Amino acid sequence: MGRLPTRGVWSLGAQRLALPGPLRPPGPRGSWGSGNLAAYEADRLKFLIQAKDQFGPAVRFGPRTTILFAPAAVASVLRATEDFVISENFLQRRLSVAEQAEGRSLRAVLSPGLRLPALGQVPAVVDRHLVPAVDRLGPAWFDPLPVMESVISGAVAELYFGADGASLPAMLAELLDELSRVIGNPFALPERWSSPLRRRIEARHELLRAEVERLLAARLDAPRGAIDDVATGVISRAGSRHSLSRVADMVIGSLLASQRVPAAAASWLLMTLADHPRVQDQIAAEMWSLQSVQCPASRTDPVVARRAVLEVLRLYPPTWLLVRTASRPVEVAGYSFAAGHHFMISPYVQHRDADVFVDPAMFRPERWIQPPHGPGQYLPFGGGVHVCPGRHLATGILIAIAQGLTTRYRIIRTPAQVIPNPRTTLLPDGLRTALRPAGDRSDQLPALAGVSSPR
Ligand code: HEM
Repeated sequence: MGRLPTRGVWSLGAQRLALPGPLRPPGPRGSWGSGNLAAYEADRLKFLIQAKDQFGPAVRFGPRTTILFAPAAVASVLRATEDFVISENFLQRRLSVAEQAEGRSLRAVLSPGLRLPALGQVPAVVDRHLVPAVDRLGPAWFDPLPVMESVISGAVAELYFGADGASLPAMLAELLDELSRVIGNPFALPERWSSPLRRRIEARHELLRAEVERLLAARLDAPRGAIDDVATGVISRAGSRHSLSRVADMVIGSLLASQRVPAAAASWLLMTLADHPRVQDQIAAEMWSLQSVQCPASRTDPVVARRAVLEVLRLYPPTWLLVRTASRPVEVAGYSFAAGHHFMISPYVQHRDADVFVDPAMFRPERWIQPPHGPGQYLPFGGGVHVCPGRHLATGILIAIAQGLTTRYRIIRTPAQVIPNPRTTLLPDGLRTALRPAGDRSDQLPALAGVSSPR
């Protein structure tokens, strides 16, 4: 989820505090009063790209915030565990030092369940949710975001809790809708102010936590081996080191991370595939040829689909901004910064560096035959200690969606302009897609008011 440096950037009071030492990075002067915030809010992606072009590897955003572009500095900040921290949790609440440390330990409880062999079931589980969802759509234009969100959320809930998880996607969607009003909103009230929105967030969180605790507790009591899902592994690895409520919160955090962010990635994937019908054919052909191999264990990696997914995540990283806070005085990119200084890192900008990715704005899946990047240059899943623990699962889900759709349909989209919207997760505003059954060569196109012909 894109966390934004709202407080460090916005607080006018902060401008009088903790000025870094004599050496400080260059940067736009901004306007009196709000600094660079107005220009940033007017067009966040453009602001970052221009800042990099004009001022280079480290750019002063405000007295307590620096934007980092130099890959080596980016990689070192993401790598360092104790010095550069994520200071807010998924509810946008500030974390104490002890909570941050426990978060790192809880990661170790979650991560193993999100790798192979658990991932072997992903294509079948995704198909179980994808097929009925797209059948329901019929021949109509649709906004892929909510459709993909419900498919992915349902699939992940099933992987975590089997059939018991069916109630979770609706509860998660409600919490996420409320949280979206806070995440990335520089004008949201501080967390210590008890507003109706904060109270609604708390209430939804409590309901969800009670349900997740119940499901986890059922797995604690179940005979060994009776239930085989991600949550059972999580609760057995947690042992007695963590309270049930902390484990439940960690599970909720990861379930929330499995909603809009991968759904945004899937939407960008659909858009890009609609623009590249040949790649759709190649993914489908690869899938048919893999399925013709009788023994599943001998099937090779679906490289064509994987490269397309990696390339879509490069062009449109849903988590387009990462933020870290210095926990003590630090040196970065040759400059000194006080404790509490914020660092913004943009995967979106890193991914469009022409020195690393030739023709960076072009969709070129073949560039992944030999991955061109080094540390700090390709960050759709972040990097270092907080690298996304769901990255293998997410990639597997996106590949399964690409395969599931291209083997059954031709993905098309309207010619309307799609605008990347970075308010929270990077979303494709204006995207409308449709699915034409594979082999249907008729000119019968879905009807949608105001749209005459698809691309
Ligand atoms: C395309 C899909 C996904 C993308 C692009 C993505 C991206 C990211 C990124 C960039 C981070 C690091 C944030 C930071 O450094 O501040 C992250 C963290 C995280 N992701 Fe994902 N993610 C995806 C899917 C998933 C899924 C499916 C899960 C879980 C099943 C998941 C669970 C998490 C968790 C728990 C964290 C927090 C890790 C920590 O703070 O240590 N993500 N994700």
